Amino acid sequence: MHTAEVYTQRRKNLMQKVGNGLILLFGNKESAMNYSANTYPFRQDSNFLYYAGHDEPDLAVLLDTQSGEQILYGDDLGVEDIIWMGYQESMSKKAENVGIEVVRPMEKLAGDLCKAMAKNRKIHYLPPYREDRKAQIAFLMETGNGKREDSTSEELIRAVVSQRSVKDDNEIQEIESTLNAVTRPMYLNAMKMAKPEVFEYEISGMIEGMALKQGYSMAYPIICSVNGEILHNHYHGNRMKENQLLIIDAGAESRLHYATDITRTIPVGGRFTSRQTDIYSIVLKAETEAISGIQPGIPYRDIHMNAAAIITEGLKSLGLLKGNVADIVSVGAHALFFPHGLGHMMGLDVHDMEDLGEDYVGYDVDVQRSGQFGLAYLRMARKLEPGFVITVEPGIYFIPPLIEKWEAEKKFTEFIRYDKLKPYLDFGGIRIEDDVLVTSTGHHVLGDPIPKTIVEVEQACKI
Ligand code: GLY
Ligand code: MN
Ligand code: MN
Repeated sequence: MHTAEVYTQRRKNLMQKVGNGLILLFGNKESAMNYSANTYPFRQDSNFLYYAGHDEPDLAVLLDTQSGEQILYGDDLGVEDIIWMGYQESMSKKAENVGIEVVRPMEKLAGDLCKAMAKNRKIHYLPPYREDRKAQIAFLMETGNGKREDSTSEELIRAVVSQRSVKDDNEIQEIESTLNAVTRPMYLNAMKMAKPEVFEYEISGMIEGMALKQGYSMAYPIICSVNGEILHNHYHGNRMKENQLLIIDAGAESRLHYATDITRTIPVGGRFTSRQTDIYSIVLKAETEAISGIQPGIPYRDIHMNAAAIITEGLKSLGLLKGNVADIVSVGAHALFFPHGLGHMMGLDVHDMEDLGEDYVGYDVDVQRSGQFGLAYLRMARKLEPGFVITVEPGIYFIPPLIEKWEAEKKFTEFIRYDKLKPYLDFGGIRIEDDVLVTSTGHHVLGDPIPKTIVEVEQACKI
């Protein structure tokens, strides 16, 4: 955990930004897997972690923006719980650790909220994303006279996003040290292991094991697949063959729950074929030039569009696209090959604050979300500011059902050489992803370099 002062200052800033009513922040509960005592690994709510640090279930914080009173709700364990769980820190110690003076049992929360609502005080809360929390909020926001205060607070969402978007030195250090201690070594090992006859799960298991055995966890489910054209492919059961491409998109989560998010594409057997080299070189150029363009004041959407243009230019030079590059990008024909956004914010969540609503995090009044296929999936589009941590992750994929659909619809036939795509239907996909801090003068790629150029990756694949 950070020091009590860090959490106290964050809550003070939050209360000032919101400026009215009460702010209710929930920690998560345990979540049952197949029966109630057999739970998924506990993951604390990231907003709760940010403002109240504690990584245990069944806690809540209530902040009164007028009086400044701050209450930690939760229960000390009775002896029956202690038999099973051992001694836990007392609630009063928990409160002290994060700079809170008042502790109340959880059963008092409903009554306290009721009293505040009876005085017409607004209760600000964030959008719930778990079903148990949705039900609890519906119950708590019942005002007693049939009325229900059941809308989340846009003021609170905006205040949280403005604070959590800008990472401080401790947060950056947490991400960078996790990249170096765990995520980078995972990739170095994976490159050595990516040989014919090895199963994908041998590599994904190694990756997860490396995190767990150092006391870390994974920030999101591992993608480790020779079918990289399936974007969120969590199947790991293929036995790899020579000359396939293995996409690994994986990142350790730090002990304080900060994410890392890296992708590398590795040639099974250790050598890229010439066709793979052609496509890889385009993705690498898009990634490195996107990183070079990162600086404060530039809308990330511009950097995405530039990456799309580089991909388009490259595919045109290979004869897979034709026509004017700017025209292709403006109508979105390149999205057949690059159907996702260039990146997203990263922090306590891998897609940072996505629970609060993507548009609050990645868009603003100046940059509105497009409805165009491909560009619509861009999570981060607004102007960059110092302290933002973002991912840069362009890719080129050959997705047979999408190619077949667009060809049948004769979509963008003036730009797409469908006849030339047939040999690529078994290609798979290539993505390269790094995590980048926006600094006051430009950018800093977080973590020590992980092999990325063709020469570096092939070298790292050698035993
Ligand atoms: N690992 C999920 C992503 O890259 O967005
Ligand atoms: Mn990723
Ligand atoms: Mn990512």
